[in-house]
Amino acid sequence: MKALILSGGHGTRLRPLTYSQQKQLIPVANKPILFYAIEDVIEAGVDEIGIIVGPNKEQVMETVNSVDWSAEIEFIYQGEPKGLAHAILVAEEFLDEDFVMYLGDNILREGIVEHAEKFKKSNCDASIMLAEVKNPQQFGVAELNEDGTIRRLIEKPKVPPSNLALVGIYFFKPVIHEAVKSIRPSWRNELEITDAIQWLIDHRYEVRWTKVTGWWKDTGKPEDILEANRLVLDGLKPKNEGEVENSKIIGRVVIESGARIKDSVVKGPCIIGHNCKIVNSYIGPYTSLGKECEIDGTEIEDSVIMDGSKVINAGRIVESLIGRGVKIQEFDHMPRGYRLIVGDNSSIVL
Ligand code: DAU
Repeated sequence: MKALILSGGHGTRLRPLTYSQQKQLIPVANKPILFYAIEDVIEAGVDEIGIIVGPNKEQVMETVNSVDWSAEIEFIYQGEPKGLAHAILVAEEFLDEDFVMYLGDNILREGIVEHAEKFKKSNCDASIMLAEVKNPQQFGVAELNEDGTIRRLIEKPKVPPSNLALVGIYFFKPVIHEAVKSIRPSWRNELEITDAIQWLIDHRYEVRWTKVTGWWKDTGKPEDILEANRLVLDGLKPKNEGEVENSKIIGRVVIESGARIKDSVVKGPCIIGHNCKIVNSYIGPYTSLGKECEIDGTEIEDSVIMDGSKVINAGRIVESLIGRGVKIQEFDHMPRGYRLIVGDNSSIVL
């Protein structure tokens, strides 16, 4: 089985971060979201991966190529994001056998091994993954027959027929190529994968489903990134490769090499990136600091701070998503508990 991982698209709901950074490269627990997808398909036995790239293709290629993966990786240029089924159309030549399609902004706790095994054993034409959600109108939704088979799939319905959302991971036999060529663009002018799978159902191909029982996150919005960060940090194994001086480290904390923590309190689960410098500060639960960050005289909790950012005497920062190379520093006395969503290379004087 091959894999097609989607890392194109504009990521408009994550602006301003996505003006300068491709959405799937945003870090969760200091690892680009895209890497979780690559690891999952490799774990499921895939050794040939096609990655769909779009407008920021160089960034994605450079980041992926910075790791020595145990699978062959090919980049496939989609250009404009014309839909998930369009990505299959563009990758047709590469996809000459059964494949798993994995949306590069999805994160799944349990991985896909069990789901891939069921697909291989069942010999069905396609297999989708469903998860119960509270907000089905924001996803593709499945309506089931009484015997549990799929009756209908609808993309972002105003009145959802169930709370079963389509997870962004799909298993296909090559017949899907006929389906993606047969459908028409939707009202949002995209070739929808839900329509292609519906085409398979309507033409009596066998489409099965498996249920996701652990957590699953589609990281489309800032609050989703913070939630994914919490979920991944919850499974953290502590380690300390840095230097700690006159500080308290409480709970599960990862301190990466070269990091220095002085006169501070760090309370896990959290991760302190390579070469970070933390002085006279409190780093609270569910915080990820990327590499080379500098935190001085500040309290940070439940936040993602990306590589090379500096936060100096900035009071108390909570539930914030801060891009790369950002500078936040005290200007005057301030109220506590700022909530910030700041793009890469911004400069904030507080
Ligand atoms: O996450 C699950 C949901 O993903 C499903 O429930 C929906 O049925 C499915 O349509 C999809 O909905 P989204 O609105 O979340 O899809 P989005 O446009 O955000 O695209 C998903 C990923 O694929 C994202 O990482 C960008 C990438 N992409 C998207 C399009 C439209 C591409 O690489 N090329 C594209 O043309």
